[in-house]
Amino acid sequence: MILPPDADALALAARLLVQGELVGMPTETVYGLAADAASPAAVAAIFAAKGRPSDHPVIVHVLPDADLTRWAAQVPASAQALTARFWPGPLTLILPRAPGVSDALTGGQDTVGLRCPAHPVAVALLRAFREAGGSGAVAAPSANRFGRISPTQARHVADEFGEGVPVILDGGACAIGIESTILDLSRDRPVLLRPGHIQPGELAAVMGQDVWLPDGSLAGAAPTAAPEQGRAPEQPAPRVSGALAAHYAPRTRLRLAPAATLAEDTARLVQAGVRVGVWSAERPDGLPQASWRAQPASAADVAHALYAVLRELDGGGFDCLLVQAPPEADAWAGVRDRLGRAVTGSGQPD
Ligand code: TXA
Ligand code: MG
Repeated sequence: MILPPDADALALAARLLVQGELVGMPTETVYGLAADAASPAAVAAIFAAKGRPSDHPVIVHVLPDADLTRWAAQVPASAQALTARFWPGPLTLILPRAPGVSDALTGGQDTVGLRCPAHPVAVALLRAFREAGGSGAVAAPSANRFGRISPTQARHVADEFGEGVPVILDGGACAIGIESTILDLSRDRPVLLRPGHIQPGELAAVMGQDVWLPDGSLAGAAPTAAPEQGRAPEQPAPRVSGALAAHYAPRTRLRLAPAATLAEDTARLVQAGVRVGVWSAERPDGLPQASWRAQPASAADVAHALYAVLRELDGGGFDCLLVQAPPEADAWAGVRDRLGRAVTGSGQPD
């Protein structure tokens, strides 16, 4: 049931969390499927609802004043600098887990993911949960079935789970629209596990340390870093980054087309009798208005619209979806990452 986030709804949602039930929770990135992070049984219910393999860790969402040592064995100076600058906000930090943190949260790994969401309804829910006697922290993966398109509106969560989630708090359309940036601080140097709204260069500047990609290449340089730094010695990729090649996927086959060839590509498909839905800056000649969605110009606006447009086109009865490929610039890394995985996973009806 979708509820406006008034005091009654927040109290009800907090009670449900205390009882180990699931709640649909808006955040500034995407909607999450929240359960008490301190209850392995409640966390297990998330995995069951999503159809998610149990070795995939989930992010623990905490209040701005949370004691991080409840979850993390160490909170290094770099983490303190980042939380001071970016929390509440769309940044998840991977830290060594504290004793007693359940395998249900960490997928059996020795690390835990922590994030302090900025959405006022998420913060209000965590507060109400704590005031109701709960842990005040929720595990919350994106509220979609495993591998499918993430939700950025309350209605999307209801479409995914129906009555399987008793309460979904309506926080409107998520401002950012793609999931948080994930930075792993549990290794000998910071590694970017998932690109998002907050860029690696911003993280590097705040930490005074370079940020690396899992393949060992530089993701973002700290302003003080030596200029000759390029490739660092290889280190093993994260055991489970959640960075599956196929994810965020529409059931309809999805392709990316460069701006330069999009019109031709569309015309070829239309001539072959393929019903094609297109998301591009300009409507290709000859494509009916109903088969086209206007793609905004900035990376932030495309991220904001991305999942809602993919969902809408996926439900539009098309044989194929064609999306204008994002530019190569750093600002587009998050959108490129999501679209690339969406292409790989697309075209697989249930
Ligand atoms: O913006 C977000 O982060 C959203 C909202 C709801 O907060 N949540 C989200 O959760 O995207 P989820 O479960 O869909 O994605 C979490 C990602 C997965 O790729 C998972 O593998 C990774 O975080 N992750 C969580 N804990 C980890 C850990 N200890 N080590 C490595 N990766 C971890
Ligand atoms: Mg997800």
